[in-house]
Amino acid sequence: MRIFEANISLQVCMFLKEFLNNISSFEIANKKMFDDFGLISVFESRDDFQELKKSVSVVATDFVEESDRVEYGDFQTNKGLTNRVAKYLAKENISPEIVIEPTCGKGSFIIAALSNFKTLKKVVGIEIYKPYVWETKFSILDFFLSNPDSNKPEITIKHCNIFDFDFKNISKRFPDEKILIIGNPPWVTNAKLGSLNSSNLPQKSNFKNQKGLDAMTGKGNFDIAEYITLMLLDAFHTHDGHLALLVKNSVIKNIVFDQKETKYKIGKIKKYCIDSKKEFDVSVEASLFCCQLNSSPSVECSEFDFYSLKKKTSFGWLNAKFVSDLADYTETKEIDGVSPFEWRQGIKHDCSNVMELERVNEHFVNKLSEEIKLEEDLIYGFLKSSDLKNRVIKNSRKLVILTQTKVGQETSYIQHLYPKTYNYLKANISSFQARKSSIYRGKPLFSIFGIGDYSFKPYKVAISGLYKTYHFTLVLPQNNKPIMLDDTCYFIGFDKIEYAVYATILLNSEITKAFLKSITFSDAKRVFTKDILMRLDLLSIAKAITQKEIEKQINYLNDNYGLSVNLSQWDSFINEMIPKKEKQLTIFE
Ligand SMILES: C[S@@+](CC[C@H](N)C(=O)[O-])C[C@H]1O[C@@H](n2cnc3c(N)ncnc32)[C@H](O)[C@@H]1O
Repeated sequence: MRIFEANISLQVCMFLKEFLNNISSFEIANKKMFDDFGLISVFESRDDFQELKKSVSVVATDFVEESDRVEYGDFQTNKGLTNRVAKYLAKENISPEIVIEPTCGKGSFIIAALSNFKTLKKVVGIEIYKPYVWETKFSILDFFLSNPDSNKPEITIKHCNIFDFDFKNISKRFPDEKILIIGNPPWVTNAKLGSLNSSNLPQKSNFKNQKGLDAMTGKGNFDIAEYITLMLLDAFHTHDGHLALLVKNSVIKNIVFDQKETKYKIGKIKKYCIDSKKEFDVSVEASLFCCQLNSSPSVECSEFDFYSLKKKTSFGWLNAKFVSDLADYTETKEIDGVSPFEWRQGIKHDCSNVMELERVNEHFVNKLSEEIKLEEDLIYGFLKSSDLKNRVIKNSRKLVILTQTKVGQETSYIQHLYPKTYNYLKANISSFQARKSSIYRGKPLFSIFGIGDYSFKPYKVAISGLYKTYHFTLVLPQNNKPIMLDDTCYFIGFDKIEYAVYATILLNSEITKAFLKSITFSDAKRVFTKDILMRLDLLSIAKAITQKEIEKQINYLNDNYGLSVNLSQWDSFINEMIPKKEKQLTIFE
């Protein structure tokens, strides 16, 4: 059943009915609540008191209790999980005197703390949504009615915005008490953030060098839980105790990344990966973020499975490098350098309905299923991330119109040289004009990006930036024309097939795979970026692989994809990769 829009158990309802029946003022009720249960200011006003008294007095004794289902949002933590977290912390000998739940919701972390920490002297919960404040208070009453002999700390459940709460004041007032910050701050996606009441956000903030609401509206992929965690670290990192918060993995990664600069006094940084689908019915990678406060600043985080407590990896800083797996990185760091070939991103056109085609018999068909006749010259094979599954690609299903050979090139030539193509593009000009990105503003008609001499290299080695597959594809020309890639893909291009084959082999080697695994984060929007790929020192990879292995791989590609490549170009390939400076040194030696 519900009172004040909050779930309340039958036990608490019947208790309050009797308890309040004999009390006439809210001051007395508050005093008695404190004396009996340690709860401070249960009633914030006389109105609260009168209203609750009225509500419980009309409760019939024969109501059917509602099921204990989570009703308000997907992100209230279930009791099983909060209890498991608190039990685990207690087992780790964490015995706080003060517990702070920064956004306590319906209070399940507070109940778990009351059940598991016998040393508690004070509990503070903060929550913006009034029904949850009531539900937390009702749950606390229920807990003490069911566990009358339990230790009763002083408890304050504050109805307020966390951004107006002065955490530093608690640290000042209780400088010697061991503290535990525990909870699950709102994991708000950019979309959800927009739907939150603006009073629910800090008014002014220079969070990550963004200004106020700009930061809050998620322009920079802002996460409110990260802001809250940093606020808590600001207030408590020099205070003895621990922090244990359920947050998105990206929040933990950002905090550890920023540790190099922020140097919060936090140590023993750990991440316990939870199954968010099971616990919250959401597909977000999240974990329990734990650290010890008032420690020497750590810049690495050990990762465990929350349920088995098995260690998975450690990530963080190793000297000047931020890596996702410190052990694998240490094994493979010899190939961390600078790629001798420049990695490029594929073509961006933002006009797939018009620009992307398929060939059907004698004509082309666009994404709107329109049949079109066009000159062949500007049409090229086109691959997307999802096409890069095979080791070698010689044909593409999709085609693209290349209106330029370099960024910014005038496109008026199309009208004279390729009238059919021009008429088609012109007829669809509204689609080009509807492109939102500002990069197209003031540029020639039908402009594209990510195009240059490098796009026309006949042999390419490509990878999808989106998929965590660590798999590189050799892309060969189609009908003597180079195949293009879209802007979700990255590639290096070569004039000689031998070089492209050697590079494919080096990039698909075990050492490259292990290295890439050690520096990429699976929860990143783009797993592979130009920055990541530019770290692949192919020359060092070549030195780490035996000639025999290269030969074996060449034979495999020849046999399976009809190539006829051999090692005749290997030495010149290696020579091409030696930095110019080093080559000069060898000449003068
Ligand atoms: C992810 S839920 C978790 C609730 C609770 N900590 C738990 O683990 O079940 C986040 C809670 O934060 C509350 N909240 C959101 N913004 C807040 C703010 N600015 N101040 C205080 N509480 C807030 C929400 O109402 C919600 O109850």
